[in-house]
Amino acid sequence: MPPRVRGAVKSGQASRTAIFVCQGRAVADGRMAVDRFSDPVAARLLGPEELKPVEAARDDAGTAQGGGRERWAVESVRACAEIVAPRTVMIDEAVTSALAGQDGMQVVLLGAGLDTRPWRLPALETVKVFSVDHPDTQADTRSRAADLTPVARELVFAPVDLTREPLDTALETAGHDRAIPTVWIWEGVVPYLRKAEVATTATAVAARSATGSVMVVNYQTPSLTATLGRAAGSLVARLGRVESATADEPWRSAWTPAQTAELLTTHGFTVEQDVDLLDLARRIDSPTKHGRSLRNGRVAVARFIGSARAGR
Ligand SMILES: C[S@@+](CC[C@H](N)C(=O)[O-])C[C@H]1O[C@@H](n2cnc3c(N)ncnc32)[C@H](O)[C@@H]1O
Repeated sequence: MPPRVRGAVKSGQASRTAIFVCQGRAVADGRMAVDRFSDPVAARLLGPEELKPVEAARDDAGTAQGGGRERWAVESVRACAEIVAPRTVMIDEAVTSALAGQDGMQVVLLGAGLDTRPWRLPALETVKVFSVDHPDTQADTRSRAADLTPVARELVFAPVDLTREPLDTALETAGHDRAIPTVWIWEGVVPYLRKAEVATTATAVAARSATGSVMVVNYQTPSLTATLGRAAGSLVARLGRVESATADEPWRSAWTPAQTAELLTTHGFTVEQDVDLLDLARRIDSPTKHGRSLRNGRVAVARFIGSARAGR
């Protein structure tokens, strides 16, 4: 049995960061990079309390009502929106391009959280999508999306706590076909895993990748400022008794582009693109107030060719 992934969510509790990034997408919808970014589904997955900071952050008048807690929540989701807008554009376009003109591919969302693509991305209309997530988060997602109709041809939920079961078994049980190419979307998850856990997942992905499969992976580059900033943010939230989306789900690994390329190559993938979110945000005319955070976020797109190193 492969080594287990320790994971990043508390047992019995849906991922808070999954809600947080969904709030970010809801803030950005119609406000940021409007020619390239759109996510009208995000707000529909959020509850009334979760929508309050979203609505305040979308208010162009800008001054959040309320005390420190409310302002903290509004500023947090506004900053998150700036990161997720270019990230979503890059991933949507990579997935759409990978699926264009291809019959019989399938898509796997690794750590799907409240990823809205099954309900909004037109490229998925002809595709079977597997949504992989921790059972607690996934149960929450399913109840939030109960009234929505997927645009995906078929949406299959594969609950798996990667601290307890291997990804391979969960996908096999869900009906994933390792003989046909897969587009893997691994967004907003790698930073929450230790390096060995990332490698374990990459091994499972490679073992289920037919030639021509595509990996679209978002990761964070090493940054002392970002690490300290995140730790300080969590501490301030704790001291102020403010609910923090990130306090219980700390970042555990950062990767340079060279390390990411090495990881992917070792597992049989060849990197075709690797862009930083700041460059991308500038290109799509998305806000860049949080330039340092944008600079540390990257999306790599890699194609599976199989290799002796990957054992294929
Ligand atoms: C920051 S969220 C990202 C969600 C989504 N990919 C996005 O970008 O909107 C991290 C996701 O990893 C999932 N995750 C964390 N630990 C896990 C585990 N042990 N097994 C399965 N999924 C896990 C969480 O449930 C959550 O959905």
